[in-house]
Order: sequence, then C-alpha cells, then structure tokens
Amino acid sequence: ITIDASKPGAPVASTLHGIFFEEISHGGEGGLYGELIQNRGFEESRLPAGTKVEDGWLIPTARTPHFMLQPRVSDWRMRWPLTSQWPAWSLEAGPKADIQLQLTQANPLNEATPNSMQVNIQALDADGRNNLVNEGFWGIRVNSGEQYNFSFYARTDERYKGSVTVSLQAADGKILGKQVFDNIKGNTWKKYSSTLKPSASDLKARLVFSFGSTGTVWLDFVSLFPQQTFKNRPNGMRKDLALYLANLKPAFVRWPGGCFVEGINIENAANWKRTLGPVEKRPGTYSVWGYWSSDGFGYHEYLQFCEDLGADALYVFNAGVSCEYRSGTFIPEDSLQPLVDDVLDAIEYAIGPVNSKWGKVRAASGHPKPFPLKYVEIGNEQHGPRYARRYNIFYDAIKKKYPQLTLMASMGIGDINKRTLDSMHRVDMADEHAYKGAYWAFNNYDHFDKYKRGDWDVYVGEYATNAGVGSGNMLAALNDAVYIMGMERNGDLVKMSSYAPLFENVNTRHWPVNLINFDAGRSFGRISYYAIKMMNDHRADQNLQTTVTLPPSANPIPQFAGGIGLATWDTQTEYRDIEVIKGGATIYKSDFINRPQEWQSIRGKWVVKDSALAQTVQGAQRLNILTGKTFDTYTLKLKARKTGGTN
Ligand code: AHR
Repeated sequence: ITIDASKPGAPVASTLHGIFFEEISHGGEGGLYGELIQNRGFEESRLPAGTKVEDGWLIPTARTPHFMLQPRVSDWRMRWPLTSQWPAWSLEAGPKADIQLQLTQANPLNEATPNSMQVNIQALDADGRNNLVNEGFWGIRVNSGEQYNFSFYARTDERYKGSVTVSLQAADGKILGKQVFDNIKGNTWKKYSSTLKPSASDLKARLVFSFGSTGTVWLDFVSLFPQQTFKNRPNGMRKDLALYLANLKPAFVRWPGGCFVEGINIENAANWKRTLGPVEKRPGTYSVWGYWSSDGFGYHEYLQFCEDLGADALYVFNAGVSCEYRSGTFIPEDSLQPLVDDVLDAIEYAIGPVNSKWGKVRAASGHPKPFPLKYVEIGNEQHGPRYARRYNIFYDAIKKKYPQLTLMASMGIGDINKRTLDSMHRVDMADEHAYKGAYWAFNNYDHFDKYKRGDWDVYVGEYATNAGVGSGNMLAALNDAVYIMGMERNGDLVKMSSYAPLFENVNTRHWPVNLINFDAGRSFGRISYYAIKMMNDHRADQNLQTTVTLPPSANPIPQFAGGIGLATWDTQTEYRDIEVIKGGATIYKSDFINRPQEWQSIRGKWVVKDSALAQTVQGAQRLNILTGKTFDTYTLKLKARKTGGTN
C-alpha cells in the first residue's frame, strides 16, 4: 500500500455519521421513550383513521386515487394485529370477584383521546385479587431505590366508596412498592399522582390496580415514568438507550422515519402538530409497522433530544403520499398547499423567532431559543417524475423562506435515480437507501467511485447489511465498515449517512437486522454499532492518494456463490410459502402464513423472506444456499395464489 501524503484527495465530511430514528420494532414506544406503561390511554385498539377491518385486513376507506393498479392490502403490515380490545391490560380476579372491563367513549377525558376503561365491580374477592394489571412493554423494568412518577386519571359512580391501591409487583407477585388512594370519588375526571420507590429491582414487574369497593371506576392515561431519564428531562428518554446514541456522537438525528413518515394512508400519516402539547391530549399515530405510537416522543421532544445530543435535526415530512406498499393513497399535486403551509409551520416551530406564530408556541413549551434544525427531507423513499413534481413545489416554497436549510430529495432503495434528479429544480442532497446482502460491499467497494458527480451531495439515509447475516454478525459489521470506507473515499460526494433501523425491542422485531437490541431493561449494540462508533471516533478528515498492489498469489475476495433465483414475477400472484428440497429431503420450509412478519413486500409483490436463507435483490428474490464445490440439484416448491391478472 503506497500512500502519497503530498496528494490530498477529498476531505471526509464531519457530518458523515448521524442517526436514523423510526417508530419500528417499538424503537420509541416501549423503547427510547421513557414511558413504562403500554397502552396508557386505552387508545391502542382504535382503528387508524380512514380504515376499516375486513377479514382481518385494514382496508383504507377514505381513498384518494393511487399510483397502483389496484389497492394494496396484502402487505402484512396491513393486517389488523389486535386480538384484545385493551392490549397490555388484563383482569386478575379471585374466584369470588365479579368484575367486568369495558372500553367506553362516553364522557371522555378529552376529545383527542376518546377511549377510557370502565371497570364494573359487582362483587369483591375476599383474598384481595380484584386487580387490573398492566404488563408494560413485555415487562416493566424497575430499579431498587430509584424514583418513579406515577399518575392516572379516574372518576367513579356514587356506589364506589373504597380505596384504589396501586402497586408495582415483581413477576412472582411480591409487592415492590405501593400507594393507597382513598380519596378517589366523584363523577368528573381528576388526576391522581404519587411517587413509587421499588424495594427491589425487577425486569418483569407489573403495575397493578386493586379495587376496594363495588361500583364503577373509569380510568384513563395511566403513566409510570422513571425520574432518571437522559439529561433528566421530564417526559424524556430511557437513559441506557439514549447513551448509545450520545456515545456515537452523531452529527444529526433524522426523525420520524422511514415508512412511519408515509403512514398506512394519508389520514394516518405522521403529523407533527398532533405530537405537541400535553401528552394526555395527543391522539397518537398508528405506525405502518403495526402498532400505535402515543407520540410521547413528539416533535418538541425530538428537537430537544437533538440539542441534548449536540446534534443537528433532520426532519422528514410527508409529501402527500402514503406508503405505496400499504394503501398508496396520495393528495393530488394541485391540493398540496395545506401541506406546504404545514411544513413551513414545522420549520417555524423549530427555528422561527419567538414573536412568530409557531416560535411563540415553542417558547410557551419552555424553549424560547431556536432548536438546531438544519436539514429537511421531502418525503421518504419516493422517486420518479411524479415525486419530482411535488418535490419542486415543496422545495421552492421552503427555500424561498428558509434558504439556509439543506433540503433532501428522497430516492428509492438502490442507486440514485437520475431521471428523478433531472426533473427537479434543484437538489441540495439526494437520499439513497442501501440495504445490501452479505459480501455486497466487498464486491462493490467502488460503488460510489463510479457515481457521476452532479451539483448535489449524497446522503445515505438508510444503510445496513441485512441479508445472509442472521440478525447481524461480524460479517455484517465488516460489510458495513467497507461500505463506510467507500463513503469516506468519496467525501466530495457523500456527506451524510445513517444506519437503519436503529432500535429493536427483541419482543417485536419488524426488520431482520437492527443496530441496537433491547428488552424492558437490558440492551446491547450489535457489532455494526461498534464498527460505526469506531469509524466515527477515528474518522479521517482527509483522503490521501493511495495505491494498493496485490501480489499475483493473493486470493481474491470470495464471491457470493449463487443461490436460487425466481426469475419471473407476476404482480397478480401472492407467493405464499416456499419449500426447498435437496436429494429428496426438505432442507427448508417456510411457514409464512403463521409467521407473517417474515414476509417482505417488494414493489408490491409478495415475496418470501427468511433471514437465514433469503436475500432481497432489487425487486427479485434469491434464496442463498451456500453450497460446497460440487453441483447439487435443488427443487423449489412455491405455494402461490392467483389474485387476478393475465400472466
Ligand atoms: O428501515 C426500515 C425501512 O426501510 C424504512 O421504514 C424505510 O424507509 C425503508 O424501506
């Protein structure tokens, strides 16, 4: 390796490494966001706006014309996942107790959150098991000696004359801390609060309401929040998870996604205004990943978090198009003005002066100084001439008012789409998404070297080696590192990047490989996390001319050997299950019908995906079966269902 220090190449951008946050795999709700009670407002069984359920599928009801030939309902994320009306809550009653639960929308706490829980207690059990239990997010982690702020809203009928005891119980039923409320009465909503200090630590604690009288009690907005959060912010972030991010020293934080930005339909797409103000008045957003976000980690909290991390904010807004794989609805180009106004409002909230309309709201929320918003991205993963037309509308309006902001054009997964770029008025930065299989980066180390330069920079907004590497391993980290080296070497072009997805609550994985894994109390960064951290901590700031000469005996980097490719696709067919047979024996059989999370929709087609065997290759599907040096014969059986079409 010969390095010529007298011939400097492109500098490496100090902004190269940032963070991508999305509400996926409970990364925020039950993850980074500190709240410990799942379904705290009893709103999680509400159907997302503009949908109904038919045969277990969420069907968009209010549909604008869409890009696709037919409404898409077959993506697994459009399955309505709930079997309970009150997820995470359960009744625990002794044999003599007669208690019924019912969700009601009568006399709501506020209009934005219509549901409350009605507990009808006809008879009590003498041994005291008259309980309503919340299991948290697959358990509640409590630490001995730490303080937890606890609160709920309640009202009662006149028959209810007793107390309500709230306790934190260990998995074995041991009481770790409790508070007796004996003043709960009256038919108007009142807030009750206290502090709980558990006597022992537990990973799988539960919060238990025990009722001491017959009658009816209505409950709403039950919250348990650790006092110790990142930077001790009220309504703040879980400390251990936030520290992973702080330790990465990210240059920026992208929020709120990802597909979450797009929504399963327009009515339900992310909306920053819905995430402001008192938490009990936030209606929440149904994440495209199949669960509700209470939006407690809202726009204000996000901007505050950026400031706390010393990072710039990169806000992504919905460009009037919902997720094409879900319902694919959109707002027509001639009706985009309300959305343009909305994003200008969002920017004003972040950086406008305190005497502006939204700057005033920010100041009233406790932050008169502007937040560090520097980047705004127009939509997520959209491209093509139709996207370019709406991009131009947003770009022109935002640049006119805020010329200092860097605006990002979204692109699809894969290389930058030249056709889209050519029909845009101007592009500050183009966001390429790059999910690749094992060995891809080794074989394509010169990926960015070959890019034609334009008058735009590149932001690799989502990247990861996420196929053929299980749920992430050393091979994945090496691939990621080689990919990052390609970005560094092309510092004149690639200015920013963020690995995706960031978080996975191991109880609900929605994506095969994620950077940081956690459960209610434990967490670890995968090897890729440490690879990125190392490369950011020791980031070069300048490329130097380097020549590598391989001796003739050097082994080439092993190439990916092959696999089984499905060469023909039919957009009208759902590929249901797959079986791979070798020498008469089944070596792999999927069970996607029962494990729908393993399905992956590519360009609206059903394809099969299993992290161990399958690799997604740009709209086709390949099953990786690494063979030895001899030829083998495989039989591939596909269970398919025709849904129409002519192929
Ligand atoms: O990171 C997971 C998903 O991958 C994002 O939501 C989407 O933008 C991309 O396709």
